[in-house]
Amino acid sequence: MKVVLASPIADRAVEALRRDHDLVVAFGESGSLAGLISDREVLIFRSGVGISADLLKSAPHLQLAIRAGSGFDNIALDFCRDRGIRVARIPGPSSQAVAEFTLGLILSLSRRIAEAHDHMQQGEWPKHQLEGRLIAGKVLGVVGAGNIGKRVGELGALLGMRVVGCVEGPPEEHELVLAAKGITLTDFDTVVDQADILSVHVPLKDSTRHLIDSDVIHRMKPGSILVNTARGGVVDESAVLDGLKSGHLGAVALDVHEQEGDGRLSPLAGLPNVVLTPHIGGMAAESQEMIGRRVIELIDAFVHGRLEEVWTNDERLA
Ligand code: 3PG
Repeated sequence: MKVVLASPIADRAVEALRRDHDLVVAFGESGSLAGLISDREVLIFRSGVGISADLLKSAPHLQLAIRAGSGFDNIALDFCRDRGIRVARIPGPSSQAVAEFTLGLILSLSRRIAEAHDHMQQGEWPKHQLEGRLIAGKVLGVVGAGNIGKRVGELGALLGMRVVGCVEGPPEEHELVLAAKGITLTDFDTVVDQADILSVHVPLKDSTRHLIDSDVIHRMKPGSILVNTARGGVVDESAVLDGLKSGHLGAVALDVHEQEGDGRLSPLAGLPNVVLTPHIGGMAAESQEMIGRRVIELIDAFVHGRLEEVWTNDERLA
């Protein structure tokens, strides 16, 4: 197949693509996606690349697009459906990676680890100014208890937190599954009201844009912690800035941002009780290896007319 790779994926998968297909790379120094997609049949992409209808119009031969990861807010799905372009995503392997990373951020904020590190870099030793809080016994609120949120809640429960969560869809389908993982299913407002630590795991779509706005932040407990490893845009960063400046929010960690990429400075940069990371929740080597292997399997299945048999409901987007 004529394949275009719009974002880096695991080296081994790139080698396999080079060996078995006609591969062009469209990131870094290699050239722009818009200039390279015109004769391509398969597109592989991650976050940070806009797969708009306009771009897709310039790819008349495209048959299959694979999102090498979970979130699919950056592809024009309706256009793909209309044009008969099959679209797959690979949500499973990044769940553990993002969930572990989220726990890392929660621990870092609770025990002020990044802040302590910054002081040590300056030769300072403010031991008695850096008292933190335990997470055991606190309420972890999971907004969006899907694949990733469920795992975050489960890990939080194992660390002694009381976990409440909400998720779209019929409660009867979710309640028992979540309860088995130590998560009490409730509604969004109750999650916001009860959480000491609020962790966001919903996809970005019209209904979730600025879901965490200044009203929600004001309803959170004073001194509470907010973590977003889902998508920039779900959290209103200027409302977060106000919440931090007023002291209502205790601390915030964002792995995803309203503006992402080189040269973008977060409005929260420089605040002491903030941890900012460059969308690395999914960047665990083991997860990327698994995603790479699945990319190859899905292309192979497509080539042999077996995609319908091979992809799971969670993977199939169009
Ligand atoms: C995802 O949606 O899978 C995570 O946000 C990771 O995104 P990435 O594959 O662009 O790193």
